[in-house]
Amino acid sequence: DRTTRHHIALIPGDGIGAEVLPPARQVLDAVGARHGIGFSYASYDWSCERYLREGAMMPDDGLDQLRDKDAILLGAVGYPGVPDHVSLWGLLIPIRRGFRQYVNLRPIRVFEGVESPLRAAAAGDVDFVVVRENVEGEYSEIGGRLNRGNPEEMAVQEAVFTRAGVTRVLDFAFELAARRGGTLTSATKSNGIVHTMPFWDELVAERAAAHPRVSWDQEHIDALAAKFVLDPARFDVVVASNLFGDILSDLAAAVAGSIGIAPAANLNPERAFPSMFEPVHGSAPDIAGRGIANPLGAIWSAAMMLDHLGHPEAAKDVTDAIAALLAKTDVRTADLGGGATTAEFTGTLLELL
Ligand code: NAI
Ligand code: MG
Repeated sequence: DRTTRHHIALIPGDGIGAEVLPPARQVLDAVGARHGIGFSYASYDWSCERYLREGAMMPDDGLDQLRDKDAILLGAVGYPGVPDHVSLWGLLIPIRRGFRQYVNLRPIRVFEGVESPLRAAAAGDVDFVVVRENVEGEYSEIGGRLNRGNPEEMAVQEAVFTRAGVTRVLDFAFELAARRGGTLTSATKSNGIVHTMPFWDELVAERAAAHPRVSWDQEHIDALAAKFVLDPARFDVVVASNLFGDILSDLAAAVAGSIGIAPAANLNPERAFPSMFEPVHGSAPDIAGRGIANPLGAIWSAAMMLDHLGHPEAAKDVTDAIAALLAKTDVRTADLGGGATTAEFTGTLLELL
């Protein structure tokens, strides 16, 4: 038996998360059968609905249950009535930090057959990757609030940038740019944020010297946001801190035409822990339960998982099928202007695959 086996943790989560993971699994099984890759799955009901029932998004030993898996595929979490910081700090952030998934990778492509809201974003021209630092930076627990309710009430939140943490994500980004044969753009704001961002810039220059074949530049985050809109085709690899990368990657997903297509990978590049793959979109309570969610974000995330697990040809089969579905058919879910259900859209993709 020459089949490679992978053990995958599935966390559907809430809302459409549970509607887009089964299509991703169908695609994995189909492409796996062709490439001699077998998958076994373990499903977890960790979600806001579990939080409402049991008072926690996941059990205390949640990370231990995931530790021996080869990868994690997550749908989305978020449920009306449960504050968003509960789902974020109760599930996503513990997994990202506990498994040292310090790279958040978001590819952006304008596919033929999908209309970008931007005139400047022609299909085929826009094809870049945002590399977001995923475990430190602005999203820190350090800080506090004083004098609640008084006129002198105050809040302080400290951003944390470490030499080790910034260096490792920059090295990942420079190596990715080298593999893609492209350039690297660093998002900064060292004119306004006078401690952490000059430190970030110094480390970028230091790592650039260690990767002399990669050309690079840097842009202040405000100007960079404008350029994402005015000239998205000029980018190849964009590296950014946790907050800047979060904002840039949602902006970029919108530039690409629909948030329903955008994928993300939370990577532990050393592979000491499982990495986690998830569509960029949330649980979409406005359309949940109707069977009309676009499954492509989850399916493309599964393709990123195949790539990470060492199967780039299988991953390319999936992204090629997505491109063919959008370019050669007019089957579309509602977010892309069509009337197809999730199942019909997935069925057409599976035929192309
Ligand atoms: P959202 O991404 O769930 O929805 C935004 C809009 O896009 C909605 O109109 C929705 O119907 C549409 N949409 C999103 N994905 C779609 C898909 N696959 N197919 C078709 N249409 C799609 O973002 P929103 O509304 O801000 O958040 C809803 C909940 O999801 C909140 O509780 C939020 O905290 C959570 N959320 C969770 C994320 C995660 O699990 N990583 C990421 C973003 C939001
Ligand atoms: Mg975001």
